[in-house]
Amino acid sequence: MKRTIIIFILSFFLIDFVSSVNQWQKNELIKVSTNNQEMIFKVDGSGKVLFLYWGSIMNDATPFLEYKNKNFQLTDQTITPQLYQPYGGITYIEPALQLTHADGVITTELIFEKVEKISMNENIDHTVITLKDNVYPLYADILFKSYKKENIISQSVSVYHKEDGDIQINKIASTYIPLHANSYHLTYFYGSWGREMNIEEKKLTPGISVIESKRGVRNTQSTNPSFLLSLNGVSGEYSGDVYAGSLAWSGTYKITFECDETNALHIVGGINPFVSTYYIKANEKFTTPEMILSYSNEGRNKITHHFHDWARRYNIKHGDQIRPVVLNSWEGTYFDFDEKKILKMIDDAAILGIELFVLDDGWFGNKYPRNHDNAGLGDWQVNKKKLPRGIKYLAEYAHKKGLKFGIWIEPEMVNPKSELADNHPDWIVKSGNREKPTERTQWILDLSNPLVQKFVYKSVDNLLSESSHINYIKWDANRYVTNAGSEHLPKDRQSHFWIEYTKGLYNVYERLRAKYPELLMQQCSSGGGRIDFGALKYHDEFWTSDDTNPSHRIFIQHGTNIFYPSIATGAHVSANPNHQTGMYNSLKFRFDVAMSGRLGMELQPADITGSEYDFAKKAIENYKYIRNTVQMGDLYRLVSPYNDTGWSSLMYVSKDKKQAVLFVYNLKFQSPTAFFETQLKGLDTNKNYKIEELNAVENKNLFWGNLKSFTGDYLMKAGINVDLTEPFTSRVFLLEVE
Ligand code: DGJ
Repeated sequence: MKRTIIIFILSFFLIDFVSSVNQWQKNELIKVSTNNQEMIFKVDGSGKVLFLYWGSIMNDATPFLEYKNKNFQLTDQTITPQLYQPYGGITYIEPALQLTHADGVITTELIFEKVEKISMNENIDHTVITLKDNVYPLYADILFKSYKKENIISQSVSVYHKEDGDIQINKIASTYIPLHANSYHLTYFYGSWGREMNIEEKKLTPGISVIESKRGVRNTQSTNPSFLLSLNGVSGEYSGDVYAGSLAWSGTYKITFECDETNALHIVGGINPFVSTYYIKANEKFTTPEMILSYSNEGRNKITHHFHDWARRYNIKHGDQIRPVVLNSWEGTYFDFDEKKILKMIDDAAILGIELFVLDDGWFGNKYPRNHDNAGLGDWQVNKKKLPRGIKYLAEYAHKKGLKFGIWIEPEMVNPKSELADNHPDWIVKSGNREKPTERTQWILDLSNPLVQKFVYKSVDNLLSESSHINYIKWDANRYVTNAGSEHLPKDRQSHFWIEYTKGLYNVYERLRAKYPELLMQQCSSGGGRIDFGALKYHDEFWTSDDTNPSHRIFIQHGTNIFYPSIATGAHVSANPNHQTGMYNSLKFRFDVAMSGRLGMELQPADITGSEYDFAKKAIENYKYIRNTVQMGDLYRLVSPYNDTGWSSLMYVSKDKKQAVLFVYNLKFQSPTAFFETQLKGLDTNKNYKIEELNAVENKNLFWGNLKSFTGDYLMKAGINVDLTEPFTSRVFLLEVE
């Protein structure tokens, strides 16, 4: 009986699956669409698939069946951009694909083979367009996943062949996008340690502009593989045509923006081809990471909604679950702790209303104790001197106090002073017989090696097996790759290193996730050094930056949250003066900034005393009241910190529009006669919202409309004005439908 039911379910699934595969009809346009955008392709007379359009949905796209671009008379073949442009045939642009065939030929020309549309469920369609070389048995499957409601389209490419020998892939992008407009304006992210995700904007000029990383591991510390591209002028938050992309890959990457002599723009993005030649045998398949794409004709704030909604539903782990308030031990103790100190921190955290305690670096290593950053990495056994009763005891203690327990680990790394380095020198990333340069006195383990993958997996698994009350790990990675190379990879396959490393890392994440589906995981890499949708697929959140100084965090979080959602944005209140900057900030300002992300603390709780203690306790309580809106709601950027007035503001509105939270910050001295005014967004026009100021200090300078009600219409048209003139001050307002 049981068997019959299973067969029935399987055959039902199969019929449904097969019937939703539509074969493409000749002379039809091929469309990839979501609720508000579409890409349109067609097969031309020579069999090439042309990329005709990406933008909002068209009522009638049939003229594209006849479409010829202006240059068609100039050559005897069309040079309308292709769906996926290889190097070969008539092309002069940066290609998406360049490979050397088994017989040494370096060109590829791709023509249409077939298209399949598969409806995965009511919200997701897959479209696979298969291209084939017109001479060689080489294929490229271009896969688009459309997330209709979230208005996201992801693109990836798989290449395989039946040639007589290996093919050599010199470049394989995840996406190629052609656009045509009068001008193009690129927004991208640039930074360094402690100042990640700064926004940079530039008008693209003829030639090629590049966003790339050649570093590996800490791959997003200086640039992030995400971009916004505005057409015909810089887009506003709420107006203009904007295209966006973000590569889901934690290895090296390259995205080029080529403005050619016809004033067309060609975007090519994916794994960085830099020293990454990759060979595949006949019948092997190489699949690129996904480029996550979206379009908006209502400015860039909409792009943020698309990415946040998609990320919460389909990318980050547990995107539908509220995040706990964290206390992380790092800046409270650094390496200097023992069991007594940690237990006291847990006690204090519990009273303050903290929900998760994270023990950071310094808990491991015996022969080479981790009392400094120069020893112990790789020896993941608890330091018996510091913690005689082990991690299990701490985790259970925290549990009894009503807290979740988390622990730091940096499992990809090894200090020269460690038992691991003594025992496995062959597991360390190295380039032949050259010196292995250290950074932060550490080396990187060679994750292209399956034995190392097993070790890394086992290190985390063993730690988690200590107690079912370890609920969270902070996965750190504090350097990037230099002198790349692997003792495991064959001599003639050293260029596989960069790709195999990242695949090895994902393999470990996959195995951990399979065994520990409920585990909360934070991605950290010296702060925001590995924030990408590839790594985030396995994580709940990221450590946004080691710089917790609020006036800096306003910028860092503003940039980060354009693509990556607030629910995943670790934002901690730290000590005074700030350990990175030496600057003093009021506790209120520190809280008001941290509360616009996933709130946590990073200090010694016992150091907060008197009225500050009461303030902190109340602020945590307030955060718990608003966090559903901050973490799950829609983010509206109202005033950018990059404008030079000194004021900036953002708000979140819950999906049902019943609650909103407004944050206002001031970074400059303002004339006492000046006041800040902003119109709100995203509210229900017809509802009455009662406004209440949160985190007010001694009820000073309360908003004139405090505890009064206003219609959404009024608040979105007239706005609210705030008396906020002193530098480094802030206000938080709760709005609730009455
Ligand atoms: C770098 C991280 O960004 C910090 O938060 C902390 O975990 C240290 N590593 C520990 O070494």
